[in-house]
Amino acid sequence: MKNQYQPLLEGFTFENRISLKNRVVMAPMTNFASNEDGTVSDSEVNYYIRRSKGAGMVITACAYVSPSGKGFPGEFGSHSDEMIPSLRKLAESIKKEGAKAVLQVFHGGRMCPPELVPGGDVVSASAVAPEQQTPTGEQPLPRELTDEEIQSIINDFGESARRAIEAGFDGIEIHGANGYLIQQFFSPHSNQRTDRWGGTIEQRMAFPLAVVDEVKRVVKNHAKEPFLVGYRFSPEEPETPGITMDETLLLLDELAKKKLDYLHVSLMDFWSVPRRGVDDTRSRMEIIQERVGSQVPVIGVGSIYSADDALKAIQTGVPLIAIGRELIIDPDWVQKIEEGRASEIKTKLRKDAQQELVVPDPLWQAIINAPGWFPVEDNQ
Ligand SMILES: Cc1cc2nc3c(=O)[nH]c(=O)nc-3n(C[C@H](O)[C@H](O)[C@H](O)COP(=O)(O)O)c2cc1C
Repeated sequence: MKNQYQPLLEGFTFENRISLKNRVVMAPMTNFASNEDGTVSDSEVNYYIRRSKGAGMVITACAYVSPSGKGFPGEFGSHSDEMIPSLRKLAESIKKEGAKAVLQVFHGGRMCPPELVPGGDVVSASAVAPEQQTPTGEQPLPRELTDEEIQSIINDFGESARRAIEAGFDGIEIHGANGYLIQQFFSPHSNQRTDRWGGTIEQRMAFPLAVVDEVKRVVKNHAKEPFLVGYRFSPEEPETPGITMDETLLLLDELAKKKLDYLHVSLMDFWSVPRRGVDDTRSRMEIIQERVGSQVPVIGVGSIYSADDALKAIQTGVPLIAIGRELIIDPDWVQKIEEGRASEIKTKLRKDAQQELVVPDPLWQAIINAPGWFPVEDNQ
């Protein structure tokens, strides 16, 4: 009998010939559980092993590329060669279960808690404090980066790509979303520079595009086998001024020219509609897919819990679907669909299931202490 969810289970081959066994991607999720020295912990590795049998590709939590970019307590790093054995352990654990392993890399910029960066020196495009709080509750006033420091951070992204290759990852995802440094350069809220890194929209794109160029250059020089380079972005910002949908579409046009392997949207709801900037009532995903989908594969994401949710999403024409919270709630999500047991998928978290679900303590505590973040079973 034909599986009604077959469109989710079909293989997918990127232009660089890397193939995925299905269309499901594990979304990058920070877990706060890495060791103090920036290495990956055993509890983290076990969490990934539990979730890497089903999805075609697993994107890791973000790793910081520079010491000044550590954005979360318990985050792991890709900022020095000493991290390579730790990164290798992570890559091998994911790949052994059958998924492709992609390392997400970032610099937290003004969203870094001061106590996590050397000398409490929080940096960004401009000296503008965030409207949102860092994970530890501050709203630090950052120091504006010098031109030389900007070049050095671009270099750090390239170095992280080299380390990802040496550690055996199948690819790297440049985290240009969720309000971190790359987005801070594109945003008119956080970037008020008047040099070549700010001002016009083209100049606000200069840093994101320079990071892409450097990562691609390093990959060309170092990778002996096909290696994926993806880019994640948030389509809009709530702040005024802030990134608008029309500005994002212009950025995507430029990113599409860079021959990236994929673009990955960051959204909490796949079906969310533009806040401002375009006169279009369709979902952001559909607008994005129409704009660049024929040039570069797009990964969609956001509140996909059931197999039907995912089927509906992939029917928009987006080739790959990322799932985050749901893979914490049910690590066997893909296998249940493969085995014709989609109706057995759990879409709500059981508060006593931490051990069974293999979730590290700090992540579990974060989930339990933030009501409304995850759907939770009734009577819990
Ligand atoms: C616990 C948690 C940690 C996250 N950490 C990251 C991260 O490190 N990098 C990133 O790009 N997005 C991160 N996200 C966003 C997810 O990748 C995803 O876009 C979001 O959760 C919506 O998808 P979902 O509804 O399938 O969970 C995180 C989300 C959660 C729930």
